[in-house]
This record gives sequence, C-alpha cells and structure tokens, in this order.
Amino acid sequence: MAKVLIIGAGGVGSVVAHKCAQVPEVFSEIALASRTLSKCEAIGAAVKSRTGQDLEVAQVDADRVTELVALINRVKPALVLNLALPYQDLSIMDACLACGVDYLDTANYEPPDEARFSYSWQWPYHERFRQKGLMALLGSGFDPGVTNVFCAYAAKHYFDEIHYIDILDANAGDHGHPFATNFNPEINIREVSAKGRYWENGQWRETEPLAEKWTFDFPIIGPKNAYLMYHEELESLVLNIKGLKRIRFWMTFSDNYLKHLEVLQNTGMTSIEPVIYQGREIIPLQFLKALLPDPASLGPRTRGKTCIGNIIEGIKDGKPRKIYIYNICDHEECYAEVGSQAISYTTGTPAMIGGMLILSGAWKKAGVFNMEQLDPDPFMEKLNIHGLPWQVKELQTT
Ligand SMILES: NC(=O)c1ccc[n+]([C@@H]2O[C@H](COP(=O)([O-])OP(=O)(O)OC[C@H]3O[C@@H](n4cnc5c(N)ncnc54)[C@H](OP(=O)(O)O)[C@@H]3O)[C@@H](O)[C@H]2O)c1
Repeated sequence: MAKVLIIGAGGVGSVVAHKCAQVPEVFSEIALASRTLSKCEAIGAAVKSRTGQDLEVAQVDADRVTELVALINRVKPALVLNLALPYQDLSIMDACLACGVDYLDTANYEPPDEARFSYSWQWPYHERFRQKGLMALLGSGFDPGVTNVFCAYAAKHYFDEIHYIDILDANAGDHGHPFATNFNPEINIREVSAKGRYWENGQWRETEPLAEKWTFDFPIIGPKNAYLMYHEELESLVLNIKGLKRIRFWMTFSDNYLKHLEVLQNTGMTSIEPVIYQGREIIPLQFLKALLPDPASLGPRTRGKTCIGNIIEGIKDGKPRKIYIYNICDHEECYAEVGSQAISYTTGTPAMIGGMLILSGAWKKAGVFNMEQLDPDPFMEKLNIHGLPWQVKELQTT
C-alpha cells in the first residue's frame, strides 16, 4: 500500500490515474498534479465516478524544481509517475533525488529547443539514484516500454542468441478528423519528421524521414504501410540485448496522414524555429498544436484497433527461430473502460504496471534502469491481467 504522485494531466496521465485507482490494494492514495488545475479536477471527477476512488489534485509547474520539491514534500508519495512531457524529465528527476522518492517516466528527455531525444541526459543520473537507494525506471509506456520487455522476455524464454529485432507499431484507428495526432502533436510531429535511424552490424545508419516502407500484414487489422523511424528504445536495446546484428522500428501511417504532414512541412508549419508574427515571436509547431484536435478529445470518436509488437529472430538450441510477440488493443474498449483512446491506454497501463512492480519490490533496484534490464516475467503477467494481453506466434525462418 503506497501513495503515488502522478504529474501531467493529459491523455496518458488520465489513463494512469484510472488504472492506479483500479488497484487500491497497491496504490492506496493517488495525487495528480499538472500545469492546469482544472484538468486535474476533471480527471479526479472521472476517476471518482468510474472507480469510487478520490484523487488529491494540485497545480504545479514541473519545469521548476523548487515547486516540485515543495509539492513532493507536501504530498509525500513513495513514487512519482511522470506523465508530463519529455521536457520535464530532468527537473522531475532532480526533485525526486532531492526528496528521496522513486521516479518513473514513459519518454526520454528532449531539450525543448532541439529535436533530439536521447537517454544521454538521464543515464548520467544513475550514480546519484544508486547512492541514495532510489530507482528511476525509464520508458515504462508501450514503445518504449512493453516493446523492451518483449525483447527481454524473448531473450529469457525463446532464444539463446537474438540477432534481428523489428518493432512494428500499427494504429488502425479512425477518429474521423482530416488530420490529428494520437498523442501530444508537438512531440508526435517532431518524432515523425525526424530522420530515420536503425542499428546494423555495430553501426547506426540514417535514412531520410519516412523513406523506407514495409507493407506488413498485421494480425486482425490486415496489411498496412509501416515506415522506418528512429525510436528511443533502440538506444537502450542495442546496449542491453547482447549479440544483436540489427534492430529497426516501424510505424504505420495512412496516406492521408502523410499527405497532410507533407503539406505542413512544406509550408514550415512543423518547424521549431521561432518566427516573428505581428511583432510577436511564435514557434510554428506550437501554433499548429493549438489548431489541431486535443488528443484527449479523440477517445469518443476513435474506432478500430492498434497492434504493436516485435518480430525477433535468432538461435535456440542451435537452430534458427523467429517469433512475433504482440498486443492488440481496441480503441472503443479502452474508451468504455477509462474514457481514453488506445494510444493513451497502451502507454498509461504499462506506466501503472511499472509503478506497481517498483512499489511491490519486484522491480525495486537502486539506480537508473531501462525496462529490458529487469525480469520480464512479472511485467508480462501483469499485462495479461490489466488489459494488454499479448500473444506469441512462431514464424517461418528465412
Ligand atoms: N512510451 C510510450 O509508448 C508513449 C506513447 C505516447 C506518449 N508517451 C509520452 O507520454 C507523455 C504524456 O503524453 P500525452 O499524450 O498525455 O501528452 P499531453 O496530453 O500533452 O499531456 C501532457 C500533460 O503534461 C502537462 N504539462 C506540460 N508541461 C508541464 C509543466 N511544465 N508543468 C506541469 N505540467 C505540464 C500538460 O499540461 P497542460 O494540460 O496544462 O498543457 C498536460 O496535461 C509524453 O511524455 C509522451 O511523450 C509515451
């Protein structure tokens, strides 16, 4: 039984609040703080009506360590679940260190003025967390998060050596808008418009944005075009999965999404370089975010499913082996359960599970960790129990 503090009252923060409230035997008290108090209050009311649990709510500017320290000292949580934006990772980690509290997030740090997400800012905190006997669990969402655990699970139970990993993320949901992003538009568009990158034979290889395409026949949702992208779990998996020869990440986009994105890019609307407009400095991408539908509003309109999983190839008992390990999640079922679409659900549920495993002691360690560094078994078991069941299919080796 422990108290948690959730920071960030967006699409994912709302799912985490609901999922924690569903497990009061672990999360006996829940506090939710964010920049906009009214959003915390709205989530508090939704959680109360669905689960009967009360949420303590607070306002905080998570860019300010002093505000965070005051909040954490007042709320006294055992664990902080960071569901704000990647820009707040370091300030929240600093505050956790100052207050002696464990930390968890779902996305690695990215400086606001430079589109370059990387663990290189958070890994150097390892020694400070270790010395204080505290844990920071990084990337406990779906991808990164579950996809890392799928790799660790495959390494533990299916392979003696893993050589090739392809992570495939498909969203076949339809929200009925001409163009919208499924999570924070600024983070999403920065990610999608970046150059592709994958790792092969000990080297990083770069591709032009969305230049490599793979038409993959996903279970239940059928064939979709998936595009090679750089994604943050690749950075830790190349270090932690030994013997790897190649790892790539693919995400599906509809032709309609790509058409809109191309026009927005060509007009400069996705740029993070400030421009002067009517005597005021604005950042085009932030202005675009203000125009696009709020991802949290997509829940009631989205139909269809997501399918995220890993194709893993290697050797077992001297013979080649290839498996596909994946989850399918239904947007409407997520909405019925927690009032959010599947993208927020598939991120928020693993964040709750990661928190549960830290608090129960099953994953508690001192230092900064990525998901694949921990025993995958309890996490995989909890996925099946808490709404993200997975399957393993044996595939023909090539
Ligand atoms: N690993 C995965 O699978 C995965 C997948 C999707 C998303 N994510 C990550 O999940 C996180 C949340 O995503 P989301 O879609 O929920 O985003 P979102 O809807 O934009 O929510 C972010 C929340 O953080 C709050 N916030 C932003 N800056 C803040 C600050 N300085 N102080 C306090 N609160 C602040 C925002 O407040 P306002 O409401 O006032 O703006 C908002 O409520 C992001 O880091 C995203 O990258 C991970």
